[in-house]
Amino acid sequence: MHSQISLSFTLICLSLSSFSINAATNKPKGFSIDLIHRDSPLSPFFNSSMTHSERIQNAALRSMSRANRFGQSSSSTAETSESVETEVLPNDASYLMKISVGTPPVERWALADTGSDLIWFQCSPCPQCYPQNAQFFDPKSSSTYMSLSCNSNPCSALPHFLVQGQTYPKCGTNNECTYFYSYGDQSYTNGELGTESVSFSQAALFPKTVFGCGHNNHGLYNMNNAGLVGLGQGTLSLVSQMGNVGRKFSYCLPPYNPKITTKLRFGEDATISENGLVSTPLIASSDSKTYYYLNLEGITVGQQKVSLTSQSNGNIIIDSGTTLTLLPSSFYDQVEALVKQAVGADQFIVQINNHKLCYKNVNSIQNFPNFEVHFTGANLSLKPRNFFRMISNDVMCFAMLPTEGQPIYGNVAQINFEVEYDLDQKKVSFAPVDCTKQ
Ligand SMILES: *[C@@H]1O[C@H](CO)[C@@H](O)[C@H](O)[C@H]1NC(C)=O
Ligand SMILES: *[C@@H]1O[C@H](CO)[C@@H](O)[C@H](O)[C@H]1NC(C)=O
Repeated sequence: MHSQISLSFTLICLSLSSFSINAATNKPKGFSIDLIHRDSPLSPFFNSSMTHSERIQNAALRSMSRANRFGQSSSSTAETSESVETEVLPNDASYLMKISVGTPPVERWALADTGSDLIWFQCSPCPQCYPQNAQFFDPKSSSTYMSLSCNSNPCSALPHFLVQGQTYPKCGTNNECTYFYSYGDQSYTNGELGTESVSFSQAALFPKTVFGCGHNNHGLYNMNNAGLVGLGQGTLSLVSQMGNVGRKFSYCLPPYNPKITTKLRFGEDATISENGLVSTPLIASSDSKTYYYLNLEGITVGQQKVSLTSQSNGNIIIDSGTTLTLLPSSFYDQVEALVKQAVGADQFIVQINNHKLCYKNVNSIQNFPNFEVHFTGANLSLKPRNFFRMISNDVMCFAMLPTEGQPIYGNVAQINFEVEYDLDQKKVSFAPVDCTKQ
């Protein structure tokens, strides 16, 4: 979520469409939200003074810091106290989604983060908040906000943190649940846990959603961003709290194009059925109940397959919020060597803007190898645009990097695939499509 990583796709709720409503519960069986590229001019993150290649270079930095973040956060439960005071770098998020909270509903933009669970907004009074454009959410002006006690189940479901000698979650002066929730880059939110109505329109209403009212939030978020929506698998995430409709969601990430919007779909609308659909098991990991772990068996470049020797269950996370793909270092080295060999151009420059393998005189390159990713039960044939990125008119870089931290299957590799997360059948499915036509 937030490190200085920004995500390259920003999810923006421009409109809601295709509702199938279950009138009895007021919960839709399915609905969809528009998705746009983070660097689109439609995005509130768009910086018109940046060139396209600057945006792409930033993506490499963001991917690296996100991998580091995952590495840190997966190992931690407590003991984050020493680092809490540390300054953090400016950060952006993978997705920004528009979400309404409260009664009457207050509409805000918030980071949509598949790498965490808690849903929270900056709330007034806010003695220590980062600046935001919109007013802070005021729980006193909402008739549906209810504070949760420190003995409640949601309070017990929070991860534990030791901060300056105090263990969180803890009981406040009126027995309210006082939470502290921090992320791998030392940013954090601290406040009171309650329940609140969350909606995506009047038709998609999720009452009594566990919701953090952050009164002390640290980390440089974007001014447009009023909080964070966790889309992980843990009990406190939006996905988990949506009930059945959250058990399945899908997205289709188009190549960068300022005019394209696509959908993030939930529930029945999320089912994909295109030709060429393949599925791989979603692995339950004891490391984290939040992340979406898959099992990567190997990668074929040209005709040569490199197998991943450490095939422990769930050796990679699929994350739409990370731009590049991060592979275990020794495995990466073998894949990179095959790519170099196959492309055959001797024009490569090592390490440009954090990319490890880049080519200039791109137009002279004739041979783009066959590139297949082997997840358990799902072979994905990637197009050159899934494993190379143009970082300027004439320079192209391999869109994968080595990591000693958490391996991540990033969003460049997912471009022009429909990706469906099915939490009931415990699988992630992929279908190659043209996401600009979805
Ligand atoms: C926009 O990008 C330019 C060029 O990289 C940079 O100098 C400027 O600080 C950026 N503005 C914002 C608001 O991020
Ligand atoms: C995936 O590719 C591997 C290696 O080429 C092959 O052995 C395997 O049968 C394929 N699996 C599926 C499900 O197509």
